[in-house]
Amino acid sequence: MNFRSDNTSPAAPEILDAIVRANAGKRPSYSDDDATRRVEAMFRDLFACDLDAHLVATGTAANALALAALTPPTGAVLCHREAHIETDECGAPEFFTGGAKLVLIDGAAAKIDPEGLREAIARNARGVHSVAPAVVSITQASERGAVYAPDEVAALADIAHAAGLALHMDGTRFANAVAHRHCHPAELANRAGVDVLSFGATKNGALAAEAIIVFDRTRAGNVERLRKRAGHLVSKHRYIAAQFEAYLDNDLWLRLASRANALAARIADAAGDWLSAPCQSNQVFIKPGAAILAKLRAAGGEFYDWGGDGAGEARLVVSWDQGEGDVDAFIAAMRAARAG
Ligand SMILES: Cc1ncc(COP(=O)(O)O)c(C=O)c1O
Repeated sequence: MNFRSDNTSPAAPEILDAIVRANAGKRPSYSDDDATRRVEAMFRDLFACDLDAHLVATGTAANALALAALTPPTGAVLCHREAHIETDECGAPEFFTGGAKLVLIDGAAAKIDPEGLREAIARNARGVHSVAPAVVSITQASERGAVYAPDEVAALADIAHAAGLALHMDGTRFANAVAHRHCHPAELANRAGVDVLSFGATKNGALAAEAIIVFDRTRAGNVERLRKRAGHLVSKHRYIAAQFEAYLDNDLWLRLASRANALAARIADAAGDWLSAPCQSNQVFIKPGAAILAKLRAAGGEFYDWGGDGAGEARLVVSWDQGEGDVDAFIAAMRAARAG
């Protein structure tokens, strides 16, 4: 019953097969290969628009490079207090932007709300004395497993753009968000006003593959050189491209995410009033108290505590390959713990 993280899951067989197929013979290096051209075309089809796709190996690199392209060193990145870029990237956004400041905003379920965004922009408009807000970064699905609806993304994009800021989306779990909404991917991204998207694949079945999708080249024209300088232009680029070809082919990305979401929803239903955030993706947050969490662990449950020491809260992440038996067993453990 390992629900620690979707990073603990293996790579999907379709993706490993694609890597093996890509292993034949010599190919041009540094993204000059045919597979990379095909992946770029697949992304253009997926979002039904012109775009640039820059492939990297980690989500932290995707976020930090996207933000570096969108922010001058004296700028500010406005994000939620619980955003991964704030809490879990070891200062990579600050480092790669050359010193831009992260300005933190609150909001339920780790989502930025429009009022909070307006206030943060106004608070940082003190001329030379403050950093200059340059980009808003939102996470889809959020660090609390919630999904921004298309109109919620559009509302934030409108505020950002009206103030001259760009909108970045950390879409490390974009697949789970699209699967939850049952919508066209463009509705949650370019059509809603997202300028640059970090499109994740690793957590949802890839081995190591993330894409920086630039919808607005006028705002983020320099990703190519920033990626090289950061050491993230992979020389044998065909292997990253092969992962994306398999991931996007025949909607594998959505099938894997839908499966994980559906299993997470079963746990959330069974959790009842223990649920501490809406379950809209493959993450389930429960707050049954420390004693119950201890019982769930004693029954074999593996998960991280959440919400600070002694909060009695936990995060369960359901992976694309999670066994149904794990889910059944965890639900049974919750019932037994509740019964005393
Ligand atoms: C919301 C979010 N963004 C970005 C990342 C970064 O991914 P990586 O660990 O590949 O750098 C993670 C990883 O856990 C994440 O959960």
